[in-house]
Amino acid sequence: MYIAIDGPAGAGKSTIAKMLALNLGVNYLDTGAMYRAITLKIVRENISISDEKSLQDLLNNASIELVEPLGANQVLLDGEDVTEEIRDAEVNRWVSQVSRIKLIREAMVKKQRELAMKWGGAVMDGRDIGTCVLTDATFKFYLDASTEERTRRRWQELKDKGKELPWEEVYKTIVDRDNIDQNRSVSPLEVAPGAVVIDTTHLSIEEVMQKVTGYIKENG
Ligand code: CDP
Repeated sequence: MYIAIDGPAGAGKSTIAKMLALNLGVNYLDTGAMYRAITLKIVRENISISDEKSLQDLLNNASIELVEPLGANQVLLDGEDVTEEIRDAEVNRWVSQVSRIKLIREAMVKKQRELAMKWGGAVMDGRDIGTCVLTDATFKFYLDASTEERTRRRWQELKDKGKELPWEEVYKTIVDRDNIDQNRSVSPLEVAPGAVVIDTTHLSIEEVMQKVTGYIKENG
């Protein structure tokens, strides 16, 4: 079974996608982690994102692997575990700029499809899963929430990790990332045809899970 879960940052999609994958006994595939890993490599190697030749060379030489897929993803960049580092502020700042680039998207989408096919099923978490990566997914969900609520959740998540940032800074990063993701020319963030839209602003994780699993049971 292939399930697409799309939406903006802080809508709750990664928590729901992981729980759903465990529930259904299929693998979880965090596509954002792949964009984050390639962004980390670009930042580390100090490559200009307007330099296509260098980007192509970097892509040809990069190895990005997602392992331990059940319920979580460990991310290996050229064999090194970068699971934590790809969530850093520097990667947050650049990831949407990198993800607009056609060359990068084509390479990542190819990898994602290959992995999902190899696994024989997946709950895929991303921005363009229902509209591009898995247009034939069995089920498509689009999770959304107000910008304020999404900021609150991201702020809390960072605080829980010991990183207390000003609320305004977290808000701005979310708004900037939304703008770039929604307005890019290659597979922008939008609701896929046939996707079930869930506004999670006033819902708990349990309530969202009930809606998602209820829909799958009724329509499966
Ligand atoms: O976890 P969070 O919602 O903050 O973001 P993520 O899922 O890790 O994705 C980080 C960024 O990668 C997004 O803001 C997009 O710019 C990009 N992305 C994308 O373009 N397409 C995807 N399928 C997944 C992520």
